[in-house]
Amino acid sequence: MSHTVCLIPGDGIGPEVAEAACRVLDSSGAQINWVELPAGAGALEAHGDVLPDSTVEAIEVHRVALKGPITTPIGKGFRSVNVQLRKRLNLYAAVRPVRSMPGVKTRYENVELVVIRENTEGLYSGLENEITKGVVQSLKIATRAACERIARFAFNYARERERHRVTVFHKANIMKMSDGLFLECARAVHEKEAPDIAYDEMIIDNGCMHIVRDPSEFDILLLENLYGDVVSDLCAGLVGGLGVVPGANIGDGCAVFEAVHGSAPDIAGKGVANPLALIMSGVMMLNHLGETAAAARVKNAYDRVLEEGRPEEITRDIGGKGSTQAFADALIARMQSA
Ligand code: NAI
Repeated sequence: MSHTVCLIPGDGIGPEVAEAACRVLDSSGAQINWVELPAGAGALEAHGDVLPDSTVEAIEVHRVALKGPITTPIGKGFRSVNVQLRKRLNLYAAVRPVRSMPGVKTRYENVELVVIRENTEGLYSGLENEITKGVVQSLKIATRAACERIARFAFNYARERERHRVTVFHKANIMKMSDGLFLECARAVHEKEAPDIAYDEMIIDNGCMHIVRDPSEFDILLLENLYGDVVSDLCAGLVGGLGVVPGANIGDGCAVFEAVHGSAPDIAGKGVANPLALIMSGVMMLNHLGETAAAARVKNAYDRVLEEGRPEEITRDIGGKGSTQAFADALIARMQSA
């Protein structure tokens, strides 16, 4: 069976890692027809819009996309395309599995946690204004519907994958109403729908201290939007950095798979970016499409390449000296020899 998948190469290192990821996924045995779509800085130049309607409509039709990172200007300029896309497609759950990788040396071993982030509201509502000169406000939005929806998603995810515990990080001691509602909804969903799964809560500052002290304490982390964004990168640092953590943005209709990392302008165009995070996102996508054998083939290939640890086949962010394409070539060679 063949699948039509939208491909947004994105900005910066996006096109390099997307090209590598597509070559690997095309060698996995899954039949994928890629439909390339514009978004980001390139789309602004070519189409006059960072997120053309035609891009959103195509994802609505085909329901699955693989997306490279997109640059967002700091402090000025257009609103984040990532945030717009998640809102317009109602991709309310960001799922970011973080696991220790064979052969990738870090301070921690046996990290096996999943960050689940509410993706549509919180401080990412984009509602900001200057009340009076020198005084600005940003609104943090929390709705019962979205808080319940993400809590339900997290507990269902835990059950489907035989995970045992959901931990909420919050700051409801300070944001008593917004984080308070997030907690109230998580507690209610746990009590009514998932009493079989362990549940606990930590004030986020203390939670971060616990994560860096012993990440094996955690199983599934459930967070509102901003906390989830920050804690995802923190967790990436536990297992080798941004080059090794994949992600999925899931809604009821569509799913967009993307790495946790950004467009990495400091290394863009040099051919040294690690494509693994996007390839791992592609594995999540293959599983989502029911292509579990193809997904396992790709996963076995990168586990083997990392375990063997030949410097010329591994990118420099994880201790090698190979290029983006050399890593993809190594994966393809392992799949062909398996
Ligand atoms: P970044 O993730 O792009 O880079 C942070 C550091 O990690 C840099 O030193 C970079 O070289 C390194 N890095 C990231 N991905 C890597 C990879 N695959 N291989 C090797 N090294 C890698 O974060 P930064 O610099 O804060 O943001 C750059 C731009 O990306 C900003 O415009 C930001 O808004 C955007 N961004 C986009 C995201 C998305 O499209 N989902 C997510 C995060 C940031």
